[in-house]
Amino acid sequence: MIVTIDGPAGAGKSTVARLLAQTLSEQSGKTFEYLDTGSMYRAVALLGLRRHVDWNIASQLKILAENASITVNNGKTLLNSEDVTELVRSPDVTEKTRFAADNPAIRLIMVDLQRSIAQQLLQCGKGLVTEGRDQGTAVFPDAPIKFFLTATPEERAKRRYKELQQSGKQGNLNEILLRITERDLRDTSRTVGPLREPNNALRIVSNNMTIENVVHQMLNECKEILNKLCSTLENNPPP
Ligand code: DC
Repeated sequence: MIVTIDGPAGAGKSTVARLLAQTLSEQSGKTFEYLDTGSMYRAVALLGLRRHVDWNIASQLKILAENASITVNNGKTLLNSEDVTELVRSPDVTEKTRFAADNPAIRLIMVDLQRSIAQQLLQCGKGLVTEGRDQGTAVFPDAPIKFFLTATPEERAKRRYKELQQSGKQGNLNEILLRITERDLRDTSRTVGPLREPNNALRIVSNNMTIENVVHQMLNECKEILNKLCSTLENNPPP
C-alpha cells in the first residue's frame, strides 16, 4: 500500500512521514518504509556543485543525474554509495536544488526511480509512505491514501525560526518568511510536477497542531480507508 504526503516547504512532511511509517508498521504488522523525495533532487544538486556544472545549461545536470546512482532508504540518502544524508541539507545545496527540481528531464528520471523503489517494496510485501510535492498528483495518482499537509507561511516561518534558535543559530523571522514565500511560488509555478493539492486527498492544516496530532489524524484516516478497502474486497472477492 502506498500513502502519499504532499505539501509546501516547512509543513513537517518528513517528520510526519517517518512517524506515520513507523506507527503503521507497529500497528499493522507489515513493514512500511518512508521516502523523502526532496532529498533525491538535493542529491542531484550536490552532484552538480561537486562537478561544477554550468547551472544555465540544463543538459549538463541531466547527464549527471542519468549516470548517478541515487538511493533513498528510510532517511538515508546515498549518492554513488556515499552517505550524503547530512550534506544534502546544507544551505549551498538547498540554494541549487531548484535547478534539479525545475528540470523536466531530471524530474522524469526521479519519478521513474520513485516508482521503481515503490514497486520493489510492494513486491516484497512492504508498504510505503512517500512525501514530496508531486507524489499524490503525478507520481502515484492512484495511491489509495493521500494527504495534503500544509500550514500558513507565517506558521511555517515561525517553526523554522524556533528550530534555528534551538540549534543555537541566528535567524531573522522576516527573511525566513520571505524565503518560504519564494519557495511556495517556485513550487506551485513549476511547469512539470508543480505542487498541487491532489484529488481525493485529505487536507490537514497543521497550524496549532502538534506532530503527534497530525500523525494521529493520518492514522485514523488510514484505518478508515483500509477498512473500506477490506470490506470492498470481502464483498467483491477477486475471481
Ligand atoms: O522537501 P525538500 O525541501 O527537501 O525539497 C527540496 C526541493 O525539491 C524543493 O525545492 C522542492 C523540490 N521537490 C520537488 O520538486 N518534488 C518533490 N517530489 C520533492 C521535492
